[in-house]
Amino acid sequence: MPGTIRLPILALSIAVSSVLGATYHNAEHIVGAGFYNSFNFEAIGDPTHGRVNYVDEATARGANLTFNSDKTFVLRADHTTVLNPAGAGRNSVRLISKNAYTTHVSVFDVAHMPQGCGTWPALWETNEALWPAGGEVDILEGVNDQGTNQATLHTSPGCTVPASRSMSGTPLQLDCDTNVAGNAGCGVKFAQGTSYGPTFNANGGGWYAMERTNAFISVWFWSREDPTVPADVKAGGSSVDTDSWGTPSATFPNTSCDIESHFAPNNIIINLTFCGDWAGAVYPQSGCPSTCNDFVNNNPAAFADAFFQFNAINVYN
Ligand SMILES: *[C@@H]1O[C@H](CO)[C@@H](O)[C@H](O)[C@H]1NC(C)=O
Ligand SMILES: *[C@@H]1O[C@H](CO)[C@@H](O)[C@H](O)[C@H]1NC(C)=O
Ligand SMILES: *[C@@H]1O[C@H](CO)[C@@H](O)[C@H](O)[C@H]1NC(C)=O
Repeated sequence: MPGTIRLPILALSIAVSSVLGATYHNAEHIVGAGFYNSFNFEAIGDPTHGRVNYVDEATARGANLTFNSDKTFVLRADHTTVLNPAGAGRNSVRLISKNAYTTHVSVFDVAHMPQGCGTWPALWETNEALWPAGGEVDILEGVNDQGTNQATLHTSPGCTVPASRSMSGTPLQLDCDTNVAGNAGCGVKFAQGTSYGPTFNANGGGWYAMERTNAFISVWFWSREDPTVPADVKAGGSSVDTDSWGTPSATFPNTSCDIESHFAPNNIIINLTFCGDWAGAVYPQSGCPSTCNDFVNNNPAAFADAFFQFNAINVYN
C-alpha cells in the first residue's frame, strides 16, 4: 500500500536493552495513507469523560475528519456543527496502533497539533487491556492551549522516580502509581516554550521522540527550526542512534521502578478530546470563555485549528 513500508519486526522482544542509548533499526515507517494501515479507529466512550464523540473510520473519512496526501495525515475534530447540549459530544478521532512494542523508539514528526480552548490532545502509549498494570507513557499532552508539554508515566504501585535527573524539564509528582493523587502520574513539565499548543504550531511543530529500555524511559522534543535536532531524527530513515541525541526533555530512570515488570507491550494512541477530567477541571483557570462544555457545544468555528497534521511516525527497535 502506498505510504507504508513494513519491515519484519524481528527483534520485538529481544530488542536492545542497553543501559545507555543505542542504535535502533526502523520497524515501521508510517506516512500519508499508511496511517490507515497501521492504526485502528476506536469509536468508544471517552474514559476521561470528555465532551467528545469518537467516530469510526467510515464516518471520519466521510466527514474529512481524517485526510491524507502522499506526505501528510490530518486528524481533526468537527468544526462546523453546533451541538445539542443533551446529545453526543463533538465528533473527533481516536487511533490505536495495530502493533504493540516493548523496548523501542518512537519518533513523531508533527507539523501541527490541536489547539483551542477546551482541547485536550494526546500522543501516548499504553496497553488498554492491562491498564494500569501494563503501564502508560504520555509523550505529548496538555489542555486549553496551556503549555508547556507534560510527559508522564502512569503505573501500578511500586514505581517512583528520583527528584534529581539528567533532563531539561522540571519534575512534578514522583510517584507514578495511578492510585496516588487522583492518577496524576509522575510528570515532567518541559522547559521548551515551543513544545505545546499555539507556540508549537507557530514554529512549524517539530519532533517528539520516546525511547523505552528496561533501564529508562526518555522523551525528547525539538522544535522545527531547532539547530540541535539530530540528523537521524530529521531524516526519519532506517536507523537512529539515541546516544547522539543529547539531554532529554524528560527521563524516567529505573532507580526505584522495575520498568520491565511495570510495562507490557504498548500500543501508540492518538486522541483528541474536549473538557472532561483534565481540560474541563482546569478550564476556569485557563483564561477561556464561558464554561468548557458550553464553549464546545456552541462554537464550532473555534475548533478549526483542532487538528493533528503528521509528516510521519517512525518506530525503531
Ligand atoms: C479535507 O481536509 C484537508 C486537510 O485539512 C483539506 O486540505 C481539504 O481541503 C479538505 N477537503 C474537503 C473536501 O473539505
Ligand atoms: C486518552 O484516553 C486515555 C484513557 O484511555 C487518557 O488517559 C488520556 O488522558 C486521553 N486523552 C485524551 C486527549 O483523550
Ligand atoms: C535497571 O535496569 C538495568 C538494565 O536492564 C538492570 O540491570 C537493573 O537491575 C535495573 N534496576 C532496577 C532497580 O530495576
